[in-house]
Amino acid sequence: MSGSYRAMLCPRLGPPEMLEPAGLPRRPLQADELRIAVHAAGVNFPDLLQVAGRYQHKPALPFVPGMEAAGTITECGPAVTGWQPGDAVIARLRGGGYATEAIVTADALLPKPAGWSWQEAAAFPVAAATAWVALVPRGRLQAGETLLVLGAGGGTGLAAVALGARLGARVLAVASSPEKRAAAQAAGAAETIDPALPGWQTAVQAHAVFDPVGGTLFDAAWKALAPGGRWLVVGFAGGEPPRPPANRLLLKEAELIGVRAGEQGRRNPAAGRRLDAALTDWLVGGEGRPLVGGEYRLEEAAAALQALAGRRATGKLVLRCR
Ligand SMILES: NC(=O)c1ccc[n+]([C@@H]2O[C@H](COP(=O)([O-])OP(=O)(O)OC[C@H]3O[C@@H](n4cnc5c(N)ncnc54)[C@H](OP(=O)(O)O)[C@@H]3O)[C@@H](O)[C@H]2O)c1
Repeated sequence: MSGSYRAMLCPRLGPPEMLEPAGLPRRPLQADELRIAVHAAGVNFPDLLQVAGRYQHKPALPFVPGMEAAGTITECGPAVTGWQPGDAVIARLRGGGYATEAIVTADALLPKPAGWSWQEAAAFPVAAATAWVALVPRGRLQAGETLLVLGAGGGTGLAAVALGARLGARVLAVASSPEKRAAAQAAGAAETIDPALPGWQTAVQAHAVFDPVGGTLFDAAWKALAPGGRWLVVGFAGGEPPRPPANRLLLKEAELIGVRAGEQGRRNPAAGRRLDAALTDWLVGGEGRPLVGGEYRLEEAAAALQALAGRRATGKLVLRCR
């Protein structure tokens, strides 16, 4: 299949305005690859970091950002089994989602639920995987425990609120705006908290904290961790990685637990299979439907990333690619 497709290309590292539309040549598939017509692509905080050169995975320039997409299979390599042209899929990507087409291998695919929009499907995998890895294998969250979710109105935060509630935890959601707090409540939070209210931490004793924010909120929220609690280090949307003195861990006999959802399957194939099974179960059952808080045209990718950087997104932002 020759011809070209449209994409948003990052030609050099910097702010999101750097992204530019480009026509890219279509390449032939390898035997184990599939081509997807991308209908929608999820926008993620790590895309922002990658474009700025501040993310752990640094693709060679120029590159097309985008770690998740939803679309229709248009072509399968001869070694592909289990999928066929016409199937509606969700794709987990190491990049390339901000485009009208993407090439993947079958292990990157999940089935798109029939009742979900392309935008909802594209917004699902990164946040859902992050929430699952953080709360289940890393966080060992139990029914009846109290889970405090920081950044609870954002992409990973809302997914953690919803999963925590489904796992039977009592979820307390911290978010800065009434809109974000309403979204967290709708996703299953038992209570919502405005972090601007002085002393909010003293009323909380959480067994686990899901923290995609870091920055100054880390210090403010530490008091809310119960003795013996688990602090799940997910990300640093609020600024620099916090540097907690070790005596704080000692005094609470607390655990600081790193979470790296994207590496789950690469480092440990059995853990990756458990993650895939959990995500597929949700999709088959129609669970975990994400809140799409904003839609942009493919060419408006920079504006979507600026909205994330400016803390203006509630739920997930998505690009319409066709
Ligand atoms: N470890 C992993 O496997 C993994 C996977 C995916 C993402 N991440 C990381 O998790 C973090 C959050 O990702 P996300 O998709 O949830 O992002 P998001 O949708 O933008 O949400 C992040 C939340 O952080 C809060 N925040 C506080 N200060 C901020 C600032 N200066 N700029 C932006 N947001 C700020 C905001 O909530 P309030 O307005 O309520 O404060 C915002 O809703 C990122 O650092 C990302 O790289 C990690």
